[in-house]
Amino acid sequence: MSANDLLLKNIDSNDKYPLNYEELEQTAKENLDAGSFGYIRSSAGGEETYRKNTNSFQKYSIVPRFLTDVSTLNTEVTILGHTYPHPLFIAPVGVNKIAHADGEIAVAKAASKFGYPYIQSTVSSYSIEEIASATEGSSKWFQLYWSQNKEIAFSMVKRAETAGYEAIVLTVDTVMLGWREEDVRNQFSPLKRGLGQGNYSTDPVFMAALPDQTEGSIIKSMIENIYHPTLNWTDIEELRERTDLPILLKGILHPEDAKIAIEKGLDGIIVSNHGGRQLDGVIASIDALPEIVEVVKGKIPVLFDSGVRRGSDAVKALALGATAVCIGRPFVWGLANGGQDGVERVLENFLQETKVSISLSGARNLAEVRKLKIVRN
Ligand SMILES: Cc1cc2nc3c(=O)[nH]c(=O)nc-3n(C[C@H](O)[C@H](O)[C@H](O)COP(=O)(O)O)c2cc1C
Repeated sequence: MSANDLLLKNIDSNDKYPLNYEELEQTAKENLDAGSFGYIRSSAGGEETYRKNTNSFQKYSIVPRFLTDVSTLNTEVTILGHTYPHPLFIAPVGVNKIAHADGEIAVAKAASKFGYPYIQSTVSSYSIEEIASATEGSSKWFQLYWSQNKEIAFSMVKRAETAGYEAIVLTVDTVMLGWREEDVRNQFSPLKRGLGQGNYSTDPVFMAALPDQTEGSIIKSMIENIYHPTLNWTDIEELRERTDLPILLKGILHPEDAKIAIEKGLDGIIVSNHGGRQLDGVIASIDALPEIVEVVKGKIPVLFDSGVRRGSDAVKALALGATAVCIGRPFVWGLANGGQDGVERVLENFLQETKVSISLSGARNLAEVRKLKIVRN
């Protein structure tokens, strides 16, 4: 289907499904309880960074080229030895059962249908093995939260390796939870409700370390383990020794950290501020990207997330040097608005809008997107 076919199909459809981010969020609000909705929507502190993430995209403008014959478009991208159909990924988002009973299974299936590599969260409602068997043959990466007992982290990495995942994404900005007032207001913790333990209750190392096998012990130990303020570069060296999979660091915002990642032999980074959910007041992710791309000099892939709401945002990030772009909250609203079908609609529209935006910029492939002129206003 060409990008324009989908637009016309949408115009002809009588099915009034939410299209843009605001509509998706509003519909999800009607479908979810206040705690679940607030957990997904909100961010840390006064949500300054959350607002900055999206507002900052408007500072960058694409200056398109015309008369370039854009009748063909190749969006393929090769990252760490794997070729993907396009540079759009699913960001790791945990506890998906708060949005829909099918949780991550629905998202991973929808991702597979539209060629989005799926990054599974450590705190997902379903396990590595359940998601792997539901989406055999599709590309998956595993996002790792470090554990106080690091053998648990290594065990999960081994499981991901065995299940055929292609890379490990270690999130470095969440050594403790951000200050999220909305969750306090709603007295809502998905971890305490047992919605993020898919990978823990199935982990032999985690379960063996429990005093007993009750639900209460699982939740208590999971919450203790996920708090890991000691995380440092030495741990990362050890992780490097414990897996043959490529390792990317998610949450990099400072060019110096990007440089150290390269020196330490990391395979990639994801420029991200966790959608503003961790430290409030940090730089908008899109503002952090250009300087990081400059110091990385193409030595390792630089993925990007936080604040991406539509295809033209993705094009801006790619033009500013991102190797690929991860979609976060938009697909979660899709999940809340209709399970797998809802996610599919979001991902299909997002992909087609991205393709239309690339072509209308005058580019025919990602190398040309990288050369697009972007001005800051
Ligand atoms: C509800 C929710 C749960 C998340 N869970 C995780 C997680 O388990 N691991 C992780 O690395 N990032 C997690 N993130 C952050 C996303 O990977 C991503 O960085 C963020 O959603 C980007 O911001 P945006 O959605 O506003 O574009 C979560 C984000 C949301 C909204």
